[in-house]
Amino acid sequence: MAPEGPGGGPRLWGGRFDGGTDAAVARLNNSLPFDRRLWREDLAGSVAHATMLGEAGILPAPEAEAIVEALREIEADLASGAVDLDPDAEDVHTAVEALLRQRIGPLAGKLHTARSRNDQVVTDARLFARSAVDTIAEEIVALQGVLLELAEREAATTMPGYTHMQHAQPILLAHHLLAYFWMLQRDRERLADARKRIDLLPLGAGALAGSPYPVDRERVAEILGFGGILENSLDAVSDRDFAIETLADAAILAMHLSRFAEDLVLWNTLEFGFVELDDSVTTGSSMMPQKKNPDVAELARGKSGRVFGNLMALLTVMKGLPLSYNKDMQEDKEPLFDTVDTLLVVLPAFRRMLETASFGRERMARALRGDFSTATDLADSLVRGGMAFRDAHGAVGRLVRHCVETGTALDEMDAQAMARAAPELARVDAGAATVAASVAARRVRGGTAPDAVREQLARARAALGAVV
Ligand code: ARG
Repeated sequence: MAPEGPGGGPRLWGGRFDGGTDAAVARLNNSLPFDRRLWREDLAGSVAHATMLGEAGILPAPEAEAIVEALREIEADLASGAVDLDPDAEDVHTAVEALLRQRIGPLAGKLHTARSRNDQVVTDARLFARSAVDTIAEEIVALQGVLLELAEREAATTMPGYTHMQHAQPILLAHHLLAYFWMLQRDRERLADARKRIDLLPLGAGALAGSPYPVDRERVAEILGFGGILENSLDAVSDRDFAIETLADAAILAMHLSRFAEDLVLWNTLEFGFVELDDSVTTGSSMMPQKKNPDVAELARGKSGRVFGNLMALLTVMKGLPLSYNKDMQEDKEPLFDTVDTLLVVLPAFRRMLETASFGRERMARALRGDFSTATDLADSLVRGGMAFRDAHGAVGRLVRHCVETGTALDEMDAQAMARAAPELARVDAGAATVAASVAARRVRGGTAPDAVREQLARARAALGAVV
């Protein structure tokens, strides 16, 4: 290793170079400031590679064993803080190899036999992405668990359901909450599916063309727990679809959280009063003493911006690159790290916000009073009496206009009063216009009737444990 890098830092090349790297160029080129967090993955990849080199006879077994042992010591020392990565190193791979050289001298130079940083870095990134999607999935499960509890608790709470942000039809609050359960369920399924394609080994691809040594890729995959091996060395070193897919799935998840957040922000207003957020998850204003702000929901909504941006950033980095590796790809890591970090701060806070929330049952009930949201149910009752739905729709529409003009609520009217307002309503079932009857009627699978929601809850509970 030529000690000629910027600031005298180590670098993995230099034989054909005259002098050191320009400091401004090093600042652009060096990725250690952000890829240093891959040191565990880098060491794991190197341990697997060196183990295989020894077993396959590419390195004498005692040499491979000495390298593996030193790598394990380095891992322990980095974890305890006894040693640190050289901040002047070009990247994490260089810094780790420099630590190895400090420990075992020139033998360290044999670790890179049959390997390039091109297959090394993407192995590290895949290991990182694999454990990141697992951690995100665990956080989603925890959030879903809270939704199930809340849905159970609010199984008898009715509220207005909205379309166009207008009162549309009454629904159960549990039904609204479970809508988000299923969105999160698909988010988790998407991540689990992406994981299958993340979980493929690049090592053995070398710089781009494959390795001339008798490397045992299956063995390396086995040690690192990869589910498969990338079949084309050019593809292995040069695609980043696994990261893009992770970012895309994360973007959809962030979109779901952002919509949920918007519901909560709205519900938390004085005007709605549908939810009260706990003091522990809200903040005050430095100026207005009365304020209690729903910052968690606002930040969940706001942070979706960077999560979407990270997806666009990496797609844009990749779209024009000729095969195979290009240094542009070094730009894959920060978007991936940022999205993972963002989700791992948003998800737990979001869960705490929901866990401690109390819903304004009385305000929801009051919002339904006189809102005409059971008008469809009256029309449906006429249809059951034989009228065409279009005609029923017209008759009930005239009734609603009458109510608006006279300041009457639908559920205050009996059948005679309705018939007086519009003669076609002679055979209407006035009882269908109550909130309870409206909700109870929607017994279809996936509907908002209490029976259907109870079934839905059971399916949700089963689904929670079923993603693989
Ligand atoms: N830091 C580089 C990256 O993140 C490592 C690979 C460098 N490979 C190379 N041939 N310069 O992509």
